Amino acid sequence: MKKEDVIERYSKIFPKASRVTYAPIVGIRANNARVWDIEGREYIDFLSDAAVQNVGHNNERVVKTIKEQVERLIHFTFVYGFTLEPLLLAEKLAGISPVENPKVSLGLSGSDANDGAIKFARAYTKRRTLLSYLKSYYGCTYGASSITGLDFHVRALVGELSDVHYIPYPDCYRCPFGKERGSCKMECVEYLKAKFEGEVYADGVAALFAEPIQGDAGMVVPPEDYFRRIKKILDEHGILLVVDEVQSGLGRTGKWFAIEHFGVEPDILTVAKPLGGGLPISAVIGKAEIMDSLPSLGHAFTLSGNPLISRAALAVIEEIEEKDLLKRAKKLGDYIMRRLNKMKEEHQLIGDVRGKGLMIGIDLVKNRETKERAYDEAKKVIWRAYELGLILAFLQGNVLRIQPPLTVEEEILEEGLNRLEQAITDVEEGKVGDEVLQKVQGW
Ligand SMILES: Cc1ncc(COP(=O)(O)O)c(C=O)c1O
Repeated sequence: MKKEDVIERYSKIFPKASRVTYAPIVGIRANNARVWDIEGREYIDFLSDAAVQNVGHNNERVVKTIKEQVERLIHFTFVYGFTLEPLLLAEKLAGISPVENPKVSLGLSGSDANDGAIKFARAYTKRRTLLSYLKSYYGCTYGASSITGLDFHVRALVGELSDVHYIPYPDCYRCPFGKERGSCKMECVEYLKAKFEGEVYADGVAALFAEPIQGDAGMVVPPEDYFRRIKKILDEHGILLVVDEVQSGLGRTGKWFAIEHFGVEPDILTVAKPLGGGLPISAVIGKAEIMDSLPSLGHAFTLSGNPLISRAALAVIEEIEEKDLLKRAKKLGDYIMRRLNKMKEEHQLIGDVRGKGLMIGIDLVKNRETKERAYDEAKKVIWRAYELGLILAFLQGNVLRIQPPLTVEEEILEEGLNRLEQAITDVEEGKVGDEVLQKVQGW
């Protein structure tokens, strides 16, 4: 089949609601940080497939485990019966998570895990109100999209859960309170207090949902003591802290879970994306008393706890442990940050680089003073990168997303960074025409 035919047939059969495209790559094979398309072109994947392939595409251990398990047992309904694989996985997840004395509920996607967290939090606290952040992303199911603070357009069309309130995320580059990094009074924390005084009845709030690093908002990293201060306020009112580690979890930031950088223990944690090595699985990990608050079948799916995917997930975790990938994510992340900061000195288009471990954002701006987002330039960089053989994406229209696999080979990483710099240079020098603006969609 020809690439153009595939793309044409896609648009005929799949609704736009299911997709958002960046570059016309028809992938047919992948290995670690490299992907090959239908025309035989090779790409370096700086996205890990949207933060899924933490241990690399088609990781050898994961592939071997799946093959072994598929011969033995693909499915035996977890909801009714007993199999070993989900048990071992849940115990392992409990062991690596920062949640005290947890129980684990397995699902299929980050979205359903967040829906589960809403249900567990509401059932346990017997309260309805939920707090979330502007520009947050929790997924596409009804519950998850109802607490998402990014795109209100779909909700205006289809409706939403009630009793959800939003607060601004602590973004030190584009401070929602107009302050500068290091010279503020943490107005973002004060805002929550004011919210409780003027708008929301604090003792009626079930939970605050937070991404420890806001991914789709453009890799926004909060100040170090932000969550400690917020947790203190939450504790005063019996409000649970739910952290969404769907994008930031499983070693991505150099710790098992990104919340561990910030010195607080969440009450509930959700994980998905990289857990199955590319197969669909999620988990809600919460304190036992919270997880015991829903009745039988309060949060269960026919295919959850599937032995095949549970085995794959165990292989992913083993790979992270045995290859010491937490340390590697930090080491490679520090190296990338050094190179990007050097690029920033030479390229006016780069306004800010930020992140932890291998969860990094490059904020492209038209003007460093005004920090006006460089939307067109971001599209052009993505397109030029694609032409040079580098898979990239942007978030918020202008923040380049840098999330290579934790296992990326050092020479491949270096080559990817060279291609990235070349793409930025070419855009700055006007070598990429306006016609590409129609070709890149993104969000
Ligand atoms: C932080 C975060 N939470 C939840 C989700 C939703 O996960 P899924 O697409 O697996 O439902 C995503 C997906 O991008 C995410 O980045």
